[in-house]
Amino acid sequence: MTTRLGSIAFFLFSFFSLQAQQSDSSLIVKIRNNMQLAVEQYKLLDANVPEGRMPQNFSEQSGKLVTSNTKWWCAGFFPGTLWYIFEYTKDPAIRALAEKRLKLMEPEKHFKSNHDLGFMMYCSFGNAYRITGDPSYKATIDTSAMSLATRFRPGIQSIQSWDSSKNFSCAVIVDNMMNLELLTWVSNNGGDQLFRDIAVTHANTTIERQFRPNNSAYHVLDYSLAQNKLLRKTTWQGAHDTSAWARGQAWALYGFTMMYRLTRDTRYLDQANKIAAFVLNHGHLPKDGIPFWDFDAKEIPNTFRDASAAAILASALIELSAYVSGSLTSSYLLSAETMLNTLSSETYLAKQGTNGGFLLKHSVGALPLNGEVDVALTYADYYFVEAMLRYLARKG
Ligand code: GLY
Repeated sequence: MTTRLGSIAFFLFSFFSLQAQQSDSSLIVKIRNNMQLAVEQYKLLDANVPEGRMPQNFSEQSGKLVTSNTKWWCAGFFPGTLWYIFEYTKDPAIRALAEKRLKLMEPEKHFKSNHDLGFMMYCSFGNAYRITGDPSYKATIDTSAMSLATRFRPGIQSIQSWDSSKNFSCAVIVDNMMNLELLTWVSNNGGDQLFRDIAVTHANTTIERQFRPNNSAYHVLDYSLAQNKLLRKTTWQGAHDTSAWARGQAWALYGFTMMYRLTRDTRYLDQANKIAAFVLNHGHLPKDGIPFWDFDAKEIPNTFRDASAAAILASALIELSAYVSGSLTSSYLLSAETMLNTLSSETYLAKQGTNGGFLLKHSVGALPLNGEVDVALTYADYYFVEAMLRYLARKG
């Protein structure tokens, strides 16, 4: 009897292992195809964007490609994605494009007008330095950290995201977690300890003030700098002040996972696990893994999905899966696989020669502001490519 049960258990184990391996290998094949597509699409995108500009978005509906200058918060994603594609393909033509577009970003190392320097300079120069080891790239990263650190406000223990405007006095947004990688990396790599201290302080303040009891993040905290006082918890890109804007949750998950990698402080790991539980157990997360633009959008299911949120979540979950064990590891990997499989489907992935040269369709920038709704966006592509390369690395 024991032997028979043992054989059945062995059969079931082998059957499910085989199924898991088959689904792994079919995703790996898709990823390899997607990366070949990325080479062709990004050459096309480069050809479509005038010298001196960066791609910003593409609308399938209007057929219009929008470009930006290098001060737009997303300007670093195009060179960053080119570096990732080069890392995978070793295609010298892609490297030449990456170097050409990277050069445009260099003067922004002195940019101090908002918190987005991490996105702009680390996703671009961080990858360039990691892949090439060119010391001039490291010097640019170091200067960028100095610029970003000028936005730290000790009175509120936070980095100020946006300057004062008619909408906000001193806004600190959850997206800001992403910019901590630039600061922490520089301290960890021979730079001033101060940058890491600022990043850690900001991350701790975020845990203390930016989350609701259900572990979803508010988008914006607005402070009075004159009184060092929190005025309100609100939103800018979400459905309403108490809603869970999808990309905000993705930034938070990625940000705390990354801060755990860079500091090994288990508070950040705990926070990342809590955010993952909020997102993955949410009744409004569709089975195909692509979130609606806001988990609390009242029009669900008749509203837009946000491919960018899925790409960021997938990348973060693949990393986080390596820091946990047992069923959490498999559940994070399975969720990331679902997201990557759906993003690799015809609905989301562009056909070669279409979509202006972008890879992914159907992202949402800022729906309440009627900005960049249901378009291709540079950061959706960046985190999609990153997630795919992380997945390949994870699967050896
Ligand atoms: N950081 C701005 C956004 O996610 O739209």
